[in-house]
Amino acid sequence: MSIKFTFGIIAEEQRTCDKHKQEYTSRMFMRSDGGEYWTGCPICNEEEQRQKRRQEQLQEQIAYKQRQIARLFKQSAIPPRFSDDSFDNYIADTAEKSTVKNSMLEFANNIANNLKLGRNVILAGNSGNGKTHLSVATAKTAINGGHTALFTTVGEMIDKINEAGWNKATAIDNYTVPDLLILDEVTYTLNSEEQKNLFKVINKRYEQVRSTIIQTNLPMPDLKNVLGERIIDRLRENGGVVLYFTWESYRK
Ligand SMILES: Nc1ncnc2c1ncn2[C@@H]1O[C@H](COP(=O)(O)OP(=O)(O)OP(=O)(O)O)[C@@H](O)[C@H]1O
Ligand SMILES: [Mg+2]
Ligand SMILES: [Zn+2]
Repeated sequence: MSIKFTFGIIAEEQRTCDKHKQEYTSRMFMRSDGGEYWTGCPICNEEEQRQKRRQEQLQEQIAYKQRQIARLFKQSAIPPRFSDDSFDNYIADTAEKSTVKNSMLEFANNIANNLKLGRNVILAGNSGNGKTHLSVATAKTAINGGHTALFTTVGEMIDKINEAGWNKATAIDNYTVPDLLILDEVTYTLNSEEQKNLFKVINKRYEQVRSTIIQTNLPMPDLKNVLGERIIDRLRENGGVVLYFTWESYRK
């Protein structure tokens, strides 16, 4: 609100601030609407200004954080098909579904600590059981907490690494940067060099204490064949979670 004045100071008087118990000179201005305006306690004014600046800074910080989270979501490469997947819309109508949902939710609720410890999750089992759904929900929780996450299928990642030609090492390193990597559709169809590159990504992330969530249709023994016993052990180390999805497809 801005106040318009017609004249300069036309009166002064000594007043005492109720709050600060301090005397000050209050000056009277005539407003253009004919009313009087008396200046207030300078300490109160100063406090008000400071409060306003603090409020503005807080607003700016919130806006900054929101822009940052929007950027993190963009970088996460979560496919539009999965962008609505959340814990809220995962229906747990059986005990088995409740178990996987609660385990994943617990992991997500402690995401900061889990990422700090580089804890991993393996979601193994049937198609259409919500492995990707729960992984995406977890990635979103991480991003909302200000962490970086990247979603990729193994096929997509291997293509990118293959395309990198002589620069494969850099392409592999790119996948070790995000705090959380969602590695979807770990399957058989990899040649031995591709398998080695997949191994490198997971192993480098392990060395750098970064979390990975793996989804696969393969039974555990087959997953061991693809990734190797050593990698599976590393994924399970330090409180790693393994969840089995064994019911009929939601897609039907
Ligand atoms: N319990 C559930 N509640 C609500 N939606 C579900 C549930 N399970 C699966 N869906 C939905 O069904 C579809 C398939 O789920 P999703 O892609 O997560 O399965 P998946 O286990 O990753 O399958 P695949 O192994 O084929 O990749 C998605 O649209 C997902 O949101
Ligand atoms: Mg899936
Ligand atoms: Zn005062």
